[in-house]
Amino acid sequence: MQFLPEPYRTKTVERIKLLPRDERQRKLVEAHYNVFKIAAGDIFIDLLTDSGTSAMSDNQWAGLMTGDESYAGCNNYFNFENTIKSITGYTNVIPAHQGRVAENLLFTNIASDGDIVPSNTHFDTTRANIEHQKAEALNLVIDEGIDPKSEYDFKGDIDLKKVEDLIKRVGKDKIPVGMLTVTNNAGGGQPVSMENIRAYSELLREFDIPFYLDACRYAENCYFIKQREKGYKDKSIMEIANEMFSYADGCTMSAKKDGLANIGGFLATNDNKLASTITNMLILIEGFPTYGGMAGRDLEAVARGLMEALDEDYLRYRTEQVRIFGEMLEEGGIPIVRPPGGHAIFVDAKSFLPDFPRDEFPGWALTVALYREGGVRAVEIGGIMLGKQPDGTEKYPEMELVRLAIPRRVYSMAHLQYVVDVFKKIRDDKSLVKPLKIVWQAPVLRHFTIQLDEG
Ligand code: F0G
Repeated sequence: MQFLPEPYRTKTVERIKLLPRDERQRKLVEAHYNVFKIAAGDIFIDLLTDSGTSAMSDNQWAGLMTGDESYAGCNNYFNFENTIKSITGYTNVIPAHQGRVAENLLFTNIASDGDIVPSNTHFDTTRANIEHQKAEALNLVIDEGIDPKSEYDFKGDIDLKKVEDLIKRVGKDKIPVGMLTVTNNAGGGQPVSMENIRAYSELLREFDIPFYLDACRYAENCYFIKQREKGYKDKSIMEIANEMFSYADGCTMSAKKDGLANIGGFLATNDNKLASTITNMLILIEGFPTYGGMAGRDLEAVARGLMEALDEDYLRYRTEQVRIFGEMLEEGGIPIVRPPGGHAIFVDAKSFLPDFPRDEFPGWALTVALYREGGVRAVEIGGIMLGKQPDGTEKYPEMELVRLAIPRRVYSMAHLQYVVDVFKKIRDDKSLVKPLKIVWQAPVLRHFTIQLDEG
C-alpha cells in the first residue's frame, strides 16, 4: 500500500498509552461495557469522533496569543467574519460555540408544529432540534446512499423527485426550509455533487423555500467535487466552495470539523430580517454578537483553521488517509460501507459477524472487543443507538455499523495500520466478540449512558 507523506511535520506530541489487556477488561467492567464511559486517558487510539479532535497548527496556536477578549467588537471577530464571508459570500455571520446551537437558533425561528424539513440525511442534533419544534426531519437521500455496496461517486445526493413530490403533496407552506448535509455524515461521510446542490436550489427557489447547508465538512465535499465531477478539475477549493454556498441562502456549521478547531461554530445567512431576530436570541442564550459563546482566541483559531482546511495538499492527504485505511481493512477481510467517505470508515458489523444475533447487539459488541483487544475506541451506529422506538419497542435498523472517525492531522498511517491489525485479530477469532444484554438504559439517547453486561 502506497502511503502519502503528511504535508506537515510534528512540533508537539501528546503521549498515548496502551494499558495491559487485563486492565482494559477491568475498565470495560467499570464502564458497564459502554466505551463512552471510559476515560480518554485509558484509550490508545480514539476514533470516537472527528469533531473537536483536530490537531491545531502552529499558525492556529500562535493565533491564540492574539486573542482579544474584549466583550464587544473584539478584533478576532472581524477576522472570523471576513473569513466566513470570503468563503460563503453570506452577508450575516453569527458566531455560536458549536454547530447544534446554530441549528437551534435557526429552527426555533423558522420551524413549527407540523412542518417538514427535508434533507439528504439529518445529523442527530439537526433532527433533534427540528423535532424539538414538533416538526418532522425527513431524510430523502438517493437510493444509492443507503446501499453499502454502491460505488456511486456522490452517494450524499438528495433525491430531487422525492423532494418535488413532497412539496406537491404537503404544499410549500409546510416546508420552512430545505437542508442538505455536506458531506453526508450519517450516510457514511459521502459527498454531494455540485449538480445536485444546484438542482435542489433551483427546485426550492421555484417554490420560494429557503435553502440552508449543514456545512460541517464542506471542504472535504469540495475536494471530492474537484476530484470526481466534470468541470471542476482546474478550479481551486475556494472557487468550488464559493459556488457551492452561492446556491443556498445560508448555512449552519460546526467549526469542530472543517474549521480544524477544538470548539466553535456559526450560522451565516443572507436573510437580514432572520439574522436580526436570531442575533437577539443569541444575546439571550450564547453571548454578545461578536463572540457568541466563544473566547476571542477561539474565534481566531477558527478563522485560521477555516483557511487551512481549504489547502489542497491537506485535503488530498486527509481524504487519501481515510481511503487507504478503508482499503487496508477491506484487504484484511473487514467489510465496510463503500466507497470510503471523507472523515470516517463505517464497518458493516452485520456482514462481519453474520451469525451474531441482532438482539445481542453485534455492532456494540464489536466496539467492546476493539477496546479489549487493542485499546481502540469506535462508536456503534446500530441496534443500541437507533433501535429503541418512542413506544419502547425495539426495531433494528437496516444497517449495523461501527464508525471509525479519523481526527484531522492527529494519527499516522502506522496508528491506522495498528487498528487494522486489531480487526484482523478479531477476524481470526470471532469468539472475542461476546454477546451483550442491557442492564440499564435511559428513555432517550440511551447509547451515551447505557449499561450492559456480557453474558
Ligand atoms: N451536523 C453534522 C453533520 C455533524 O456531524 C455534527 C456533529 C453536527 C451538525 C453538530 O455539531 O457537535 O458542533 O454541535 N457531529 C459530531 C460527530 C458530534 O461525531 O459526528 P456540534
